[in-house]
Amino acid sequence: MKSKTFLSIIMLILLALFSYSSGQNTGSENIVLEGGRMGKVSFPHHIHQNILGDCNYCHNLFPKASNSIKKLKAEGKLKKKEIMNYCRDCHQSKEKNKEKAGPTSCKECHHK
Ligand code: HEC
Ligand code: HEC
Ligand code: HEC
Repeated sequence: MKSKTFLSIIMLILLALFSYSSGQNTGSENIVLEGGRMGKVSFPHHIHQNILGDCNYCHNLFPKASNSIKKLKAEGKLKKKEIMNYCRDCHQSKEKNKEKAGPTSCKECHHK
C-alpha cells in the first residue's frame, strides 16, 4: 500500500514536470469563427502565432478560450465586427508596406 502511494507521487511529479516543459497550450492549428450573415471565417491560428510571435496581438482583446469572441460579443464587451476590423487593419497595413499579408476583401475571409 505504502509503496503504491509513493509510486503515484513519483508519477504525479513526472507528469507535472512533463506538462511544464512541454510549454503553453497553443490551441488549435486552424479555427473556424462565426461571421454572421456573411458566413464563416477560417482562421489559420498557428500560422499567425509563428509569423507574429506574440500571443498578445490578439489575446489582449479576448482570452485564450474557444468561442470567447462570440461570448464577449453577446455580453456587449466587444462590438460586432470589432475583431474583424482588427484582423483586416493588420492585413491592410502589411499590404501597404509591401509585406506578406492576409486577405482584405469580404469574400476572401467569409465563406459558407
Ligand atoms: C492573430 C490572432 C491570434 C494570435 C496572435 C494568437 N491567437 Fe490564440 N486564438 C485566436 C482566435 C481568433 C481564437 C478563437 C477564439 C474564439 O473561438 O472565439 C484563439 C483561441 C485560442 C485558444 C483556445 C483554443 C482554441 O484553439 O480555440 C488557445 C489555447 C490559444 N488561442 C492560444 C494561443 C497562444 C498560446 C498564442 C501565442 C503563442 C496565440 N493563441 C496567439 C487568435 C490568435
Ligand atoms: C480579415 C478577414 C475578414 C474580412 C476581410 C472581412 N471579415 Fe467580416 N468578419 C471576420 C471575422 C473574424 C468576424 C467575426 C468577429 C467579429 O465580429 O469581429 C466577422 C464578422 C462579420 C459579420 C458579423 C458581425 C455580427 O456579429 O453580426 C458581418 C456581417 C461581416 N463580418 C461582414 C463583412 C463584410 C461585408 C466584409 C467586407 C466589406 C467583411 N466582413 C470582411 C473576418 C473578416
Ligand atoms: C497583427 C497582424 C495580423 C492580425 C491581427 C491578423 N492577421 Fe491574418 N495574417 C497576417 C499575416 C502577416 C499573414 C500572412 C501570413 C503568410 O502569408 O505567411 C496573415 C494571413 C492570414 C490568412 C491567410 C493564410 C494563408 O494560408 O494564406 C487568413 C485567412 C487570415 N490571415 C485571417 C485572419 C483573421 C480572421 C484574423 C483575425 C481573427 C487575422 N488574420 C488577424 C497578419 C495578421
